[in-house]
Amino acid sequence: MLDTRGTAVPRLLHWGSVLGAVEPESLSVLADAGAAIAPSSPDSPVLPSIFASPAEGFSGFPALVVRRAGAPFGRLPLRIRQTAVTADDTSVSVQLECADDHGALLALAWRAVLSAEGVLTIGMDARSLAPEGVELHRLAAAVPVPARAAELLDFTGLWAGERRPQRGAVRDGLHLREQRRGRPGHDAPYLTVVGTPGFGFRSGEVWALHHAFSGNSTTGVEALPTGHRRLLAAELLEPGEIVLGPGEVYTAPDAILAWSDRGLDGLSERFHPFVRALSPATHRPVVLNTWEAVYFDHELERLLPLVDAAADLGIERFVLDDGWFHGRTDDRRALGDWTVDPERWPAGLHPLVDAVVARGMEFGLWVEPEMVSPDSRLAREHPDWMLADVSDQAGAHHPPTWRFQHTLDLTIPAARAHVLEALSTLLDEYPIAFLKWDHNRDQHAGSAAAHTRAVYALIDELRARHPQVAIESCASGGARVDLGIARRVHRFWTSDTNDALDRQRIQRYSALLMPPELLGGHVGAPRAHITGRRHDLSFRLATALFGSAGIEWDVTAASDDDRDVLRDWVATVKRFRGLLTTGTTVRTDEPTDDRYVHALVSPGADEALIALVTLATAAVAVPAPLRLPGLDPNRRYRIEPVALGAAPHAVQDAPPAWLAAGGITVSGALLAELGLPVPLLGPEQALVLHAVAVD
Ligand code: GLA
Repeated sequence: MLDTRGTAVPRLLHWGSVLGAVEPESLSVLADAGAAIAPSSPDSPVLPSIFASPAEGFSGFPALVVRRAGAPFGRLPLRIRQTAVTADDTSVSVQLECADDHGALLALAWRAVLSAEGVLTIGMDARSLAPEGVELHRLAAAVPVPARAAELLDFTGLWAGERRPQRGAVRDGLHLREQRRGRPGHDAPYLTVVGTPGFGFRSGEVWALHHAFSGNSTTGVEALPTGHRRLLAAELLEPGEIVLGPGEVYTAPDAILAWSDRGLDGLSERFHPFVRALSPATHRPVVLNTWEAVYFDHELERLLPLVDAAADLGIERFVLDDGWFHGRTDDRRALGDWTVDPERWPAGLHPLVDAVVARGMEFGLWVEPEMVSPDSRLAREHPDWMLADVSDQAGAHHPPTWRFQHTLDLTIPAARAHVLEALSTLLDEYPIAFLKWDHNRDQHAGSAAAHTRAVYALIDELRARHPQVAIESCASGGARVDLGIARRVHRFWTSDTNDALDRQRIQRYSALLMPPELLGGHVGAPRAHITGRRHDLSFRLATALFGSAGIEWDVTAASDDDRDVLRDWVATVKRFRGLLTTGTTVRTDEPTDDRYVHALVSPGADEALIALVTLATAAVAVPAPLRLPGLDPNRRYRIEPVALGAAPHAVQDAPPAWLAAGGITVSGALLAELGLPVPLLGPEQALVLHAVAVD
């Protein structure tokens, strides 16, 4: 609820629960809440607006930081006034004007749109009104949250360990996360959630913010001793990075917000359909990716048996990962040279692509268009296209290479055109259905603001030319999972780790925001390549099932038994694909995070796919029953195990009678309240069940 009366900067009075119609009288009362004059404070009430600033007597984080180009520091605070407002049932749009000592500086637009699912998108832009132009340093979305939002959850992480939750009290001051990587990063805050103390997956009132942007950003929470508390999101702009000439416009990335009084699952229930509508529509084939199967070993004789094995398993999309292009024998060279390597591929990719297509599979290809290796033809021909100073006689690069590469300056039109043409040529020559679009270093030079927009434009241009191609956003795993790029891509590579234990945690939290079918999850080799840990095939399969499922394993070396199980699993993925791509995610709150239920319930609650996951050795000898909320309490469900090869390892001898009998029929109410007896699963095991309504 936005108070736009008068010409003062509007105030967001409320967002969250539905209040129904608000009488003008009550609006006045609401608007006056907090209007008391605090001791030792301005002599008029401080009521922070959407652009709260010193001109309002507000001493907190300023949402707008801007100066007239070349002008001395202002004597007076910036003044902002509302000039127009338009609104309908689900959106409001406010025009404002900002002035400094010398006159009009900026025309501002602030828009809020509420989606049918209850997701609030705040967008802003700023147009320079100054003849000298303006330097814009910050344009932030700042939204109030109430004092009871006293606990904070956001995320950090590292390569192969994305989305590590961090939780604690909201404390006075700024909890600000500054991401200066030119990508959100493995340590992206991802979703900033504040809520009533102790909020969980199924309980508590929570307010969440995601910054829909793939470049540098500042997000966080501000709590002031005055009691003012706000969620904040802004593009992180370096001084002088955005200079607007007269009439030029800066558009801020969207801030995406949601509220729930049913804990984190309530947030996912809003975000998932929202993201499903935002991200381009696509089908969800089962994938085989060659990376951990062959790495750079791109010999046709090596790959053709993998194509055969993939087809035999029922795989629907074969993705040739890194190593196919000119000179790319390892990760030290050749990025930028996007033509097929003539030595390893004398007939081009045709023999491989033909084999893939002949076996009824789609073909996908890895690319990393935003990068260039110093050891490449592209770098030799256009050294100035690298965002690096390589002139040091001693050979040091500034910034240093990262995975032996630099960012390609895509803000140079010729560089962008080169990449666009190279990719387009490949897409014209081969029937490529899918690009895995990678991004393997932080950006340490140039403007991340300009580069991120150039990347978006490049993807948009490529998609306009080749609308049939689906794209996966990968950045050394999950370092670029955000709703800015989600508008342009169809899948995310969630993490480079295929270790099922690590994947459980990463996927569980990645799926707070992203619907599971957008999150690539692959079955890796028995011994995980990155961690060296071994897992039963059933645990690896159960983990990859709840995502955009695939295999990343040299299955030509797998045993016949394992291949039989994989074949069944691929069929299982296909059987449940409808549910897996439309379901509502249901998680449970348990005494520890080492054992939990993760389920997908179909729209209408006709069926559900349920995983009981144990990550560590049980702390209790008699396992608590498996309880599943989210089904219809008044209907009965037939519940049966889903076979994923051998049954998960259990510590007792005999499974519960219902499981031994192959299933049971119970009501949704019973399942939610009492639950079903389950085996005492060993660590790193998962029991997968299918529930179908019988009446
Ligand atoms: C990145 C990706 C991997 C793989 C390699 C190839 O690390 O995250 O999945 O594609 O690049 O070099």
